[in-house]
Amino acid sequence: MRYESIPNSLFIKNRENFIAQMKPNTIAVLTSNDVKHNNADDVMSFTQNNDLFYLSGIDQEETILVLYPDAQMEENRAIVFVKETNEQMRIWDGEKLTKKQATIVSGIERIEWAQDFEMTLQYMAFEADGFYLGHNEHLKRVTKDQETQQDRMIKWCKGKYPLHEYYRAAKITRDLRPIKSEEEVVLMQKAADISVNSFIRVLKACKPTMKEYELEAELTYNLVKSGASHHAFQPIVASGKNACALHYNTNDAICNDGEMILLDFGVCYANYNSDTTRCLPVNGKFSDRQKEVYSSVLHCLKEGSKYLKPGVLPSAYEAKMAVLVETQLIELGLLDANKVANQDPEKPLYKKYFMHGTAHHIGLDVHDVGLYSRNIEVGMVFTCEPGIYIPEEGIGCRLENDYLITENGNVNLTVAMPIEIEEIEALMNN
Ligand code: GLY
Ligand code: MN
Ligand code: MN
Repeated sequence: MRYESIPNSLFIKNRENFIAQMKPNTIAVLTSNDVKHNNADDVMSFTQNNDLFYLSGIDQEETILVLYPDAQMEENRAIVFVKETNEQMRIWDGEKLTKKQATIVSGIERIEWAQDFEMTLQYMAFEADGFYLGHNEHLKRVTKDQETQQDRMIKWCKGKYPLHEYYRAAKITRDLRPIKSEEEVVLMQKAADISVNSFIRVLKACKPTMKEYELEAELTYNLVKSGASHHAFQPIVASGKNACALHYNTNDAICNDGEMILLDFGVCYANYNSDTTRCLPVNGKFSDRQKEVYSSVLHCLKEGSKYLKPGVLPSAYEAKMAVLVETQLIELGLLDANKVANQDPEKPLYKKYFMHGTAHHIGLDVHDVGLYSRNIEVGMVFTCEPGIYIPEEGIGCRLENDYLITENGNVNLTVAMPIEIEEIEALMNN
């Protein structure tokens, strides 16, 4: 792996917490993600299933984790199944995890080869009353023609053991994963630190007439050189009015003199992510109007992020942020105060210039799992990302940091990333 090894105490603790929520005499079976193919025999870079990773630390395809805490025989209480390598694989792909390595990574003593999974599980299933199985329950998950390893496991297990009870592993992992432990925060801080240096590199490289993808290349160079696995998501490098398309990422336009660029990017280090947004003037000097809009958004970020603290419901935080942005839109002359006072609350006028949520959990997923009906708690990490988009002026501005919730409020993990207008201009002109 590119990243430094993670202490297996993290995964041992995660399993203890998971097991504490399992119903009596049940078996949890978690699978890795599939390796996905492009055309012909080329494959996309592998992304581990985050629940499996959270509970085992194993970052290899074709892995299965089995937890049966109430098993009669101690050896059946936790097993990792990994793919057995052979001469052919060694020649083409190199080494895979040995059993000993898998034990060191996961802290689980019993490691078996993947081909022995079904037979091993059979004996455990005789004894158990039910199964916990993994599933990606995300709203936007595409199901059509995209059967996942999890779908296949559910189908296989229910077909083979139809009279057992079935439960959702995701119910438990969604409860646990939002609260980050110290080891996880260290990894997220590392991702954030790589982001900071990547952004500074962009500030130093940016010049009028460059293509947006040249700036993307600066990010990519720095994050790969720093040991990150990959971008946390396809980075957004959007100059001028491109910044008003929220998920723009073709990054193929020319950065023109006088425009502002919106850069929304993240770093994935050891499977943990950062997610940050900054804006910069192509020519190194913000115009007066860009400064006005930028300062408004910065004010919302500074004030709004104060509401990210224990005991606050995410929707209450979002409502406060909406008022902050609305006030700034009036000051910028974009909304009329009287019309705002008499607006239909179901159709607030600010939506014309500000149309997205401004805080999401972040961790193993960029938009990490976690219920938004749950109050903010110590140990959660949220982004804060207000924005104002004015296509008719060719200006889109969003600023985004990552905040660890603490007893007294929060700590900005991305505090070292330049954000003040003067800092950005100074770095671009030196
Ligand atoms: N780049 C995705 C987000 O900011 O949520
Ligand atoms: Mn972002
Ligand atoms: Mn975000």
